[in-house]
Amino acid sequence: MSRRNFIGKSAVVSAAALLSSVPIISNAAKKTQAKPVVSGKTKVAIVGTGSRGTGMWGKTVLKGYSDKVEYIGMCDKNPGRLEAAKKHIGLTCKTYTDFDTMMKENKPDILIVTTMDATHDEFIIKGLDAGCNILTEKPMTTDEVKCQAILDAQKRSGKEVIVTFNYRYSPHRSKIWELINAGEIGDVTSVDFHWYLDTSHGADYFRRWHRKREFGGSLWVHKASHHFDLLGWWLNSEPEEVFAYGSLEFYGKNGKQRGTNCRSCSHKDSCNFYWDVNKNEYYKMLYTDNEQHDGYLRDGCVFKEDIDIFDKMCASIKYANGVQVAYSLTAYSPYEGYRIAFNGTKGRIDAWIQESNPTHDGEFDEIMVTRNFGKRNYIRIPQSEGHGGGDKLMQDKIWRNVKEDPFKQSANIRDGAFAILTGVAARKSCDSGKPVKIADLTDLMPKAKK
Ligand SMILES: NC(=O)c1ccc[n+]([C@@H]2O[C@H](COP(=O)([O-])OP(=O)(O)OC[C@H]3O[C@@H](n4cnc5c(N)ncnc54)[C@H](O)[C@@H]3O)[C@@H](O)[C@H]2O)c1
Repeated sequence: MSRRNFIGKSAVVSAAALLSSVPIISNAAKKTQAKPVVSGKTKVAIVGTGSRGTGMWGKTVLKGYSDKVEYIGMCDKNPGRLEAAKKHIGLTCKTYTDFDTMMKENKPDILIVTTMDATHDEFIIKGLDAGCNILTEKPMTTDEVKCQAILDAQKRSGKEVIVTFNYRYSPHRSKIWELINAGEIGDVTSVDFHWYLDTSHGADYFRRWHRKREFGGSLWVHKASHHFDLLGWWLNSEPEEVFAYGSLEFYGKNGKQRGTNCRSCSHKDSCNFYWDVNKNEYYKMLYTDNEQHDGYLRDGCVFKEDIDIFDKMCASIKYANGVQVAYSLTAYSPYEGYRIAFNGTKGRIDAWIQESNPTHDGEFDEIMVTRNFGKRNYIRIPQSEGHGGGDKLMQDKIWRNVKEDPFKQSANIRDGAFAILTGVAARKSCDSGKPVKIADLTDLMPKAKK
């Protein structure tokens, strides 16, 4: 520690305090204003009451924002999960297994969409056509045809679509945005970005509906769209062209033994991936207690032969402003996290997050800024719960109508579209062996300055 040069006053008390105390920031960040999303007490309906809908967009909202938000309807196709979710959140509103009936009987200001990825388009479009603003979980959708249909629906309705890219809101990532936008390393010319999912969280994608392209669009879309959104936001540019490789070399057909799901498996004692879902009370209440309604197995085998997504992926992405990105995603790493480096005309920013098996005491995350011909400087960002504290900041912004948006963190329909289109282009490139131009996918033309 003593050999390092810390920018500011090393580990400061709070993320907010640190963000404002670091001296190398320009005023550019302060100029932007976000559009207000809600005002007064907002009438909200939600479709999709799985763990995300019930937790982040149910219990957390009711606990922290019930002075601003009133739930008027909840919908899920699984009636058991729907009732369990209602009880868990503590809501009294009406529940529906039929979305159209919910929308006919209620006039929500905001529709929250937290269903399986490939179904988002149906609810976003119907919600827009019913005159609602939409708050959708990422990915906005899973292919370019659905993306175009959402863009068209938004245009004809004049309503707003917010994509809940919570990753943008972590203070560690806002600091990176601030450093880049303050010109600390000159013009960014290229980025090395490598993301690691571990054998617990990463494996979980291969247990569930995410394992099939038709439901989650592959990890290129379901997971990497988070990362592509971060890139567009950090670089202040939209992607132009993608070339990618992908393979499935670890999960799926590669396993030496397999079953249908962990609970019924005869290889429980020898499989490293054996997992007792019922040890998690929340999952038991939402999923295993309600299997009889839809047959959804939350603890599916990671070696099922029907898995058709990649577990090893890499892409070269060219942005409209000329920045080149080398990106990779590995889904069977011993630890979870990422490494990123921005190469600029005046220096380089390195950042890394290690979420499992941490190498330090877990109190802060670092960013290293090195100027050409200069020294290395380290910035420490205190850690906090919920995607580094980002989840709460995003919810405050949405429900408390926080107008200031100093780091341009609000993600709109265009951001949501370019994030998934990067993934769709990568997926298509893996299949065709050819580079894919983003402009060929929908009527959106990538811009160099967003
Ligand atoms: N931003 C993040 O960090 C983050 C984290 C987790 C999940 N998510 C997103 O949230 C969404 C939900 O994820 P989850 O983990 O809760 O999944 P889940 O499968 O547990 O829940 C989805 C729910 O939608 C319901 N559903 C599916 N199709 C439906 C339909 N046609 N009509 C009505 N209900 C339907 C299912 O029955 C289920 O209850 C996904 O889009 C996912 O990408 C985002």
